[in-house]
Amino acid sequence: MEPIITRHLGTPDLWRLDTYRAHGGYETLTKALQEHQPDDLITMVRDAGLRGRGGAGFPTGVKWGFLPKDGRPRYLICNGDESEPGTFKDRLLLENDPHQVLEGLILSCYAVGAHLAFIYLRGEFFLSARRVQEAIDEAYQAGYLGENILGSGMNLEVLLHRGAGAYICGEETGLIESLEGKRAYPRIKPPFPANIGAFGMPTVVNNVETLANVRHIVAHGAEWYNSIGPERNRGTRMWCVSGRVRKPGVYEVPLGIPLRDLIFDHAGGLEEGRTLKAVIPGGSSSPILTAEEAMEVDSDFDALQRAGTMGGSGGLMVLDDRVCVVQSSYIISEFYHDESCGQCTPCRQGTGWMTKLLHRIEHGEGRPGDVDLLLSMGANIFGRTICPLGDAAVWPVESAINKFRSEFDHHISDKRCLPGTESIL
Ligand SMILES: Cc1cc2nc3c(=O)[nH]c(=O)nc-3n(C[C@H](O)[C@H](O)[C@H](O)COP(=O)(O)O)c2cc1C
Ligand code: SF4
Repeated sequence: MEPIITRHLGTPDLWRLDTYRAHGGYETLTKALQEHQPDDLITMVRDAGLRGRGGAGFPTGVKWGFLPKDGRPRYLICNGDESEPGTFKDRLLLENDPHQVLEGLILSCYAVGAHLAFIYLRGEFFLSARRVQEAIDEAYQAGYLGENILGSGMNLEVLLHRGAGAYICGEETGLIESLEGKRAYPRIKPPFPANIGAFGMPTVVNNVETLANVRHIVAHGAEWYNSIGPERNRGTRMWCVSGRVRKPGVYEVPLGIPLRDLIFDHAGGLEEGRTLKAVIPGGSSSPILTAEEAMEVDSDFDALQRAGTMGGSGGLMVLDDRVCVVQSSYIISEFYHDESCGQCTPCRQGTGWMTKLLHRIEHGEGRPGDVDLLLSMGANIFGRTICPLGDAAVWPVESAINKFRSEFDHHISDKRCLPGTESIL
């Protein structure tokens, strides 16, 4: 099928307002402000079954419905922090099609009654920052932002906020703390941001791709959206395919297509003579799948969950027979240790211990009992932390041990990687 969100990517100067408008840009906003009440849009997005593309796959319309109607100002935050290893789809949109994201954001603010919105950008996204700011400026000049938007009476200010390069700023409450000028320590929930979010006010946090979807749902309706993807898993997904494939890149496909089609048709499959070893489907925090599991599963949220993993951030990493799973687990573990905010002891200390153990196993210094010790450490981190980063650090290692145990044992007994695997360190 024709891509929806990425349809115009590749058009020269798509980030400029004139080019975006030449492809129908802002027509949906203009029409929606004339023809729909805000509640119509919430109903539309809820009936469409849109699920968040930031990681958890929570239904967007339902989340919007949680905002209390108590007269306090409401804020909307577009989460453009995108730091999950293996994920690079939001950057593609922010750099190349910022007006599409902005139109989705303005429609979403209209729906939830927000008059102030923030776009929180990952600090290293220099080009995105420039393009998004230019798009905001153009939108103000054209009357899509500011006071009395297109004569509708709607007011909306949008501020771009740049992070400083910490993964934890992608977690919504860490992001809010950072936005408020503080250290990005995730908050204990409840209260949820829908009730007490940025600056103490009800706040919606949505991912970049989620907001881009809103623009198309409002343009074509919930019924149209429901015709794409299986039940409870509607729409398309921008998969970021990386690792040992011939054509790594971002592929927008309907949710629910077989994962094997994504790897072998869209991403060109493996190099000549190689075999598939494993797949990490939803960013580095998602549990690893064996080749057999990956060949069987569909790519929607629910199918991946039934298979014991998750679609997460859409960062699909392909491992062929040359990859050492112990080494990839060590690399992932080191990332989480590095990015732990340090607020809770199990995560701060536990991720460090796990990384040290994996380091010694990988480097031929593992001792009998180390693998079970790793599992026990994971059990002492999992579910005992303020935010899900603790769980995210455990899942990849625990699943790798459960599915590739013999490889870990081989490292301890033979003090090296399995023959045929290559080091990438
Ligand atoms: C450690 C951690 C990092 C996260 N990083 C991101 C991120 O970079 N971008 C993002 O959209 N969501 C990220 N999330 C999820 C957000 O907390 C939040 O659920 C999401 O932005 C909501 O948007 P959605 O409902 O549109 O998916 C992260 C969550 C955790 C626990
Ligand atoms: S789980 Fe880790 S990252 Fe999350 S709040 Fe605790 S210490 Fe910080």
